[in-house]
Amino acid sequence: MDKYIKNKNIILGVAGGIAAYKSVELLRLLVKQGARVRVAMTSSACKFVGPLTFEALSGQKVCTDLFEGDDASIQHIKWADDADAVIIAPATANIIGKFANGIADDALSTLILAVTAPVLICPAMNTHMYENRAVQRNIDILEGDGYHIMEPGSGELACGTSGPGRMPEPEIILDRLICCLTPKDYKGKKVLVTAGPTREKIDPVRFISNPSSGKMGYAVARAAEHRGADVILVSGPVDIMPPLNVKVIHTESAKEMAASVLEHFKHSDVVIKTAAVSDYRTKKVAKQKIKKTKTAMSLDLQKNMDILKELGKKKKSQVLVGFAAETQDLKKNAEKKLKAKNLDIIAGNLVGSPNSGFGTDTNRVTLFLKGGNVKKLPEMEKDEVADILLDQVKKIEKKK
Ligand code: PMT
Repeated sequence: MDKYIKNKNIILGVAGGIAAYKSVELLRLLVKQGARVRVAMTSSACKFVGPLTFEALSGQKVCTDLFEGDDASIQHIKWADDADAVIIAPATANIIGKFANGIADDALSTLILAVTAPVLICPAMNTHMYENRAVQRNIDILEGDGYHIMEPGSGELACGTSGPGRMPEPEIILDRLICCLTPKDYKGKKVLVTAGPTREKIDPVRFISNPSSGKMGYAVARAAEHRGADVILVSGPVDIMPPLNVKVIHTESAKEMAASVLEHFKHSDVVIKTAAVSDYRTKKVAKQKIKKTKTAMSLDLQKNMDILKELGKKKKSQVLVGFAAETQDLKKNAEKKLKAKNLDIIAGNLVGSPNSGFGTDTNRVTLFLKGGNVKKLPEMEKDEVADILLDQVKKIEKKK
């Protein structure tokens, strides 16, 4: 659960568009994150999805009419006062027009005028409507007034046209909401992150690699972006969605990863290396597929550059963080790497145990700090590990 969403009061405003069905999934995601969600719907939204669906999932009465209920006269003010954030999804041309011009003629448009918390607006409509000058003018007004506006997705729309106008996927809206609510203590900082495995080719169809999924590194990159950093993510081959608003550089071998990391190192304030880099590569990559023989075979390997060690030698004011994947003697091995690579922190994780290390959504990490301090973290989501790591980096930066 994200700490900026858990136990927060979120209003989900649903206007009348075909994308209203996606808001049901958005509500489900918010509830899963521990938010208390109240839903307000326009009368046209109720024609696309019944309020009962939102009521069942939120566990709260849905607001569709300004004048219903016992405390009808003040209900919208109470909801607005209590709100930590508001999402309008889908936001139609009509509701955007009302918000931009201060028109309050239904429950949702009245409520929004009383809100002082951050508001995230997710436009969704026909492409020509979205590109219409009046709609664009209204979006500009809302942006100028401090509302957070999401770019709609592009593609084929329900009305048959193709272009911008599609409501972003619920996971993306949730990510942007978290970003809106996260304090920007990394603003102005350049953070370089590495993630995933490397692949060292043996022949055109085989390679040496490891099971790193990239989840740990992508979580660090996402958390740094949420906190306002300018993030470059150098990634090995992985199969997960890249974090939004982060520059991703795709690499394959350790050599390619080293080249990208060294290029961006000098402009970085913080470097966090979660990538599982191959220590060796084949001396020669066979041009054709190696054929099976009757005897055993061996591979001639040569050492790859230890990228992190190289950064440790070049380090000036940067905070340098490594990860150590260990199967035994975590403390001894991690502290040895901390020293040898001239790091500020090394996050040691035991791999091979359930719910920790490669491929899992959770990790069990101990932070070994330069100077001897040790912080053992319990098993937690990789997103949480990332945030705690960034807190620790911030403390080191402040001391420098
Ligand atoms: O990607 P996931 O599935 O989420 O899994 C996460 C993880 C287990 C890969 C991650 O948490 C982790 O432990 N990453 C480090 C894995 C590793 O290669 O550890 P190491 O002890 O071999 O290397 C120590 C440090 O040196 C690492 O920061 C590594 O990036 C760096 N290194 C290692 C070798 C090398 N040639 N160059 C390097 O820069």
